[in-house]
Order: sequence, then C-alpha cells, then structure tokens
Amino acid sequence: MRILGLSAFARDSAAALVVDGQLVAAAQEDRFSRTKGDSGFPTRAIRSCLRTGGLQASDLDGVVFYEKPLRKFERVLATQLGAFPHSARTFSRTLFLWLGDRLWLKNRIASELGVPPQKILFLEHHLSHAASAYLPSPFEEAAILTIDSEGEWATTTFGRGHGSELELTGEIQFPNSLGLFAAAITQFLGFEPNADELKVMELAAFGTPRFAGELESLLRPASDGSFDIDLSAFRFAFDSELTFGPGLAQRLGPPRIPGSPLRMNGADSRDADLAASLQDLLERSVLALARNLRERVPSENLCLAGSVAWNARCNARLLREGPFKRIFVQPAAGEAGGALGAALYAHQALAKGSPRWRQTHTFLGEPLGDVTEDLSSVSARALAGPDGGARELAGILARGKALGVVRDRFEWGPRSLGNRSLLADPRSSAASETIRRAIKRREPFRSFSPAVTAERAAEFFDLPPGSEDLTRFMLATVAARPKARESAPLALHTDGTARVHVVHREENPAFHALLTAFGEETGAPILLSTSLNLRGEPMVRGAADALAVFDRTPLDALVVGESLLER
Ligand SMILES: [Fe+2]
Repeated sequence: MRILGLSAFARDSAAALVVDGQLVAAAQEDRFSRTKGDSGFPTRAIRSCLRTGGLQASDLDGVVFYEKPLRKFERVLATQLGAFPHSARTFSRTLFLWLGDRLWLKNRIASELGVPPQKILFLEHHLSHAASAYLPSPFEEAAILTIDSEGEWATTTFGRGHGSELELTGEIQFPNSLGLFAAAITQFLGFEPNADELKVMELAAFGTPRFAGELESLLRPASDGSFDIDLSAFRFAFDSELTFGPGLAQRLGPPRIPGSPLRMNGADSRDADLAASLQDLLERSVLALARNLRERVPSENLCLAGSVAWNARCNARLLREGPFKRIFVQPAAGEAGGALGAALYAHQALAKGSPRWRQTHTFLGEPLGDVTEDLSSVSARALAGPDGGARELAGILARGKALGVVRDRFEWGPRSLGNRSLLADPRSSAASETIRRAIKRREPFRSFSPAVTAERAAEFFDLPPGSEDLTRFMLATVAARPKARESAPLALHTDGTARVHVVHREENPAFHALLTAFGEETGAPILLSTSLNLRGEPMVRGAADALAVFDRTPLDALVVGESLLER
C-alpha cells in the first residue's frame, strides 16, 4: 500500500510517502523553493518523495491531506463575520485566498498528480498531529497531547494511542489557543509570529517572569487545564498579520519595533522579562494540560505534537515536573509533521494490523546523489581513510575552522542533525563568530547548541531519565555539567543549559565518527552544531545550495558527499 500525505497553505508545506507502513521519504517544500516556511502547494516536495520511493503518482493507493479545508473555511468565515467591522481590512483578502486553491483542493490534487478524486482523503488537522506523534513513537500505548495555533476548530487536543490505533478524546477550540497567544506576544516583542517563537524562548533565559501575572490574567487558566483568552487585547482571531491589539500595550507598555534594540539588560529588561513571563506561563499551562490528561489516560508515556511541542524548555520541565516518565515529540512538530501523521494514519486505517514505523532519525529527505558535476568547477579533493575522513575533519575543526557538512539524505523538520550542518569547536570564539556574524547573521542573544556522542553525553550534561527520545532530536534543554562549561562554553545558553543533540552511532555513523575523532583530538566529543543556511533562508538541500553558501560567506571548509573544499 502506497500513501502520500500532504500539508499546505499554513506554514512548512510538506509531503510524506508511506509504502507498506514504512515512511520512505518526507520533505518540506521550502527546501526546494528556497522560501523559508513555504506555504504553497508542495509540488516539488511531492516529486522528491516519489523519486526517492521510486514511484509514479499513478502508483499511489491514496493521497491524504492533513486537514479538512471546508471545516477550516467555516471557522475562518464565522470568526471573521463575528469580528466585523474590526475584520473589514482582512476579510476580502481571506475570501480571495480561500476561493482560490484551498476550497477546491481535491481538484487541485487530482489534476496535479493525476490521481482519481476518490483516492483523495482529508483528515482532521489535530488527528494528523496526534498521529505524527503517536504512530512513530517507541510506545505500545501512550497519552497524546497536541498543541498548536489553529486547525479547523481545535487548537489543543487530548487523546490516547494503543497498538496501531489512536483516538482523540477531548479538545480546546479556537480562539483559545496557546500557539496563537504565544505568537501574539512574539509579534509584540518585534519578532515574526508563528515563526520566531523559539527566539523568544531563548530570550527568556535573560529575563525574570515579572509579567507572568499580567499575562495569566489574559490567558485566564481554569482548574481543568483549559483556558479562556481575553480577546480584548488580541486580534489573532480575525487578523493573521497584526495579532495583538492596543489592550496589550496598555498593560505591557509599547510594543517593540522590529529591529530596534532589545531591552534585555540592566535597568531596562522589559523585553527579556516579557519573554521569560511568556515562557513561564506556557510551561505551567502545558503542565496543567498534561496533568489533566494523565488523570484520564493512566499511561507513563506521552506523545506530543503541534508547534508548541518545539519548545525545548517546556518539554524539559514537562519531563522533570510532569506526570509522564517518557515523552516522544514528533521532530517536525508543526504543520509539516501533519503530512507525515496523515499518511501514517491513513495507512493504519487501510491496512489494519500492519506494523508501525518507529522514528529514530530524521534523515528522510532525498539523498544527495551524484555531485560530480556540481564539484566540477571548484577545487575539491576526496576525503580519504577508512573513517570517511573523520580524523582529518576533526583536525580542521580543532584548528578553529568553521566546517559545513552536506551528506546523504537531508533532515526532516527544522533541526540539522548532522547531514546539513554547520560545525565548529565549541571553545573557538573565532569559528563561532564566523558562524554567528558572517554566515547566520544571528542576533547576539541567540545561543548555539552542542552535539555530543551518546556514549559520553552524561559526562557533560545532566540527562534526566526518560529524555533519550527528546535529546536525539534536540527537543529538550538540559543542564550542562562543569565539564561542558569547560569543553563547550560557546554551545551553552547563558543560564548554563543547552539544547543538546545526543548522537547515536547507528543513526548517523559519519557524524558520530567525526565527534569521536574530535574527542580523541581534544578530549571532548562535543561540537557546536547548527543548520547550514544563510539568515532567512531554509536549510541547504543539495550541493548547489551548499556551494552557494561557501561562495558567499567566509566558511572555512565544506564537505560535500565524500569531497572536501577548503579555502
Ligand atoms: Fe497545526
């Protein structure tokens, strides 16, 4: 059975291909279009997944879209009309968007793929998220929690999974949305809503949560974990471009103008304090939801998806203080993950009892392929040795050079986990500054993350029991031990924590070998690791994208497949 899952028209449009129950390929459209977070129809991602799976569209038994467009349109229409005349400015644009592709999606999919309309299915948005979290998890049974900005009506759902089946048992509906609440505060802080929430999470480390009470009065949590947002301060119910209203400024002072200096130090730390307040409230809200869920689903395991599940600080606190012993988060927790969840769910529904695919890595993109032609006009040499050049690359890194790596299949989800990565010695300020200023052009308050071998991770980081499903995908922040403060000072947050990537040999032997060789050279198998891309661009996909980065930046060295370029 061959099922293609799709997500589109929100953020991170994507395709995922399931063949006989196994996820054989998954990719976001933005890797191909080079528009970060591309929300268009994922034509190129579909073609890529089919190529990787060796299939034609005519081979597909079904195509599943990750939400129900008609139900979503009904909700959008109802909330826009309900907010009139405040929604007058956005109403015509909304209608224009919906009366284009979105409402006639079945026809669009049928004509793009040449698949008969009866093979095209639509699944609820949060059921797709729930399936993306539970079905690939390592658990035989689990509680399921999905938390995002918006779907059709649900914004948060509760559920349970057992064997190959899952069901949703409760929901919180729009406009009560933790994702939209966080997006509005993100925009108030001068960042991009529904995109820069993790920057705000990092900014939170510099502040104290002195506005937590103020924000709580706007979220109005109830004893059962639900909440009732005071809409007088927000516009997100009817306006996706300006998500907060004047009521927010009355409580918190003026919004930060994008690009202006951040108020995060000394006498004026309003912005960092507001970020810390949001983070604290999010953590407590998710904890309350989880505790309530645990009362209804007596499992030790939790599966989590939806964009709020990317909050690594929140996940860590949930593991520390919450009622579940193990937590699995779909690495593509946002809208892209819906494509994967929809495909896995449809496969289980159509081929009942087939074994579940378990996700232990994110290398689901198209393989790098033959790069001979790409490298023909540059001076590259083959990496030699039985270790694939690990020792040589470790030497380059230990000399304080910034190294890009492009190998094998590209990552699914927003994190580079070794195949499209930018690496540096986490003690080298020269290399980390090259990455920060010249390549990523990152804000100074943002931190980098460490990658460490699984065998030696516990020497350097305090890894709580049950965190292994999170740390292999960089989905939890953990405390750094003194040894990490010595060996990897530039890959830690200001508060001594780190969003660590624990690298297992069986999942990425080449990256593991490089870390091991670096450890032999320097004493610590830890590298500063971030995604290989320029600021504002999606992660590089193939050799051409990587060579463009090498060309336009002072990156010292670049691995493309089995070849090395050096300046
Ligand atoms: Fe979603």
